[in-house]
Amino acid sequence: MSILEVHALSKSYRQAGGDTTLAIGNITCQVEAGEFVSFVGPSGCGKTTLLMTIAGLLAPSSGRVIVNGKEVSGPPANLVLLFQEYNKSLFAWRSVLGNVRFGVEARGAAAPAADAKARKLIALVGLKGFESHYPWELSGGMQQRVAIARALAYEPEVLLMDEPFGSLDALTRLELEDTLLRLWAELKTTILFITHDIEEAIYLSDRIWVLSRRPSQIVQEIRSDFPRPRHQVTTRAEARFMALRNDIYRQIGNQGTP
Ligand SMILES: Nc1ncnc2c1ncn2[C@@H]1O[C@H](COP(=O)(O)OP(=O)(O)OP(=O)(O)O)[C@@H](O)[C@H]1O
Ligand SMILES: [Mg+2]
Repeated sequence: MSILEVHALSKSYRQAGGDTTLAIGNITCQVEAGEFVSFVGPSGCGKTTLLMTIAGLLAPSSGRVIVNGKEVSGPPANLVLLFQEYNKSLFAWRSVLGNVRFGVEARGAAAPAADAKARKLIALVGLKGFESHYPWELSGGMQQRVAIARALAYEPEVLLMDEPFGSLDALTRLELEDTLLRLWAELKTTILFITHDIEEAIYLSDRIWVLSRRPSQIVQEIRSDFPRPRHQVTTRAEARFMALRNDIYRQIGNQGTP
């Protein structure tokens, strides 16, 4: 049994005048436990809608989402969604430790254990020494590290990530990609990642689904089987990496402008 199954999912939005916009066409896919999978697609194709629907935050117009054999009908406790705008998701009035401990406490851990676990996660995301800082005292990349630590504190069976590195500078983004891969390898979480950055999807994932323009459909499934641990310079310099990138780019580019 797959940890996550998406069956013939579609989602439309009702507009003010009564018309409907079809954001997701018809998506079927399965994610296996421990996999790192990505959706890559053009801007506005329905990626966030897809993730929100999988997370149970939006009801599907048709189709089903099944997590660990149970149909999703509201936000399930075993999925955590990390939003595109991470800086809005941290609690400004809580320190780094307070933010991460919130996630640990939500899992029912008692105070001393929660503290130790939160500190461990903070160290894992590379923020040891910043436990008592507040979000506004941190750079964007550091805030995103806190958001990742807090998301992992819930011990989700599947971590859903919506373009989590989209607003970071290029170098910070590469660093965070490696941090995420390290955490994923260590904690054995299943990750469903969304990005419009083709190379980021290839670098991180085991499998990639290429989405069409809206209404989004899967137009291609690609295996990214580069050996792990991957390396920002050598993995990306492989001829196969370039070939895959060009292949996906053509898939997306061939669809013309909307
Ligand atoms: N709440 C809403 N009500 C009506 N239409 C919406 C709503 N949210 C999204 N849409 C429409 O659905 C389509 C897909 O939006 P969505 O945000 O899912 O795309 P996206 O791929 O995540 O975009 P981006 O790359 O900019 O993050 C867009 O055409 C958008 O206008
Ligand atoms: Mg989006």
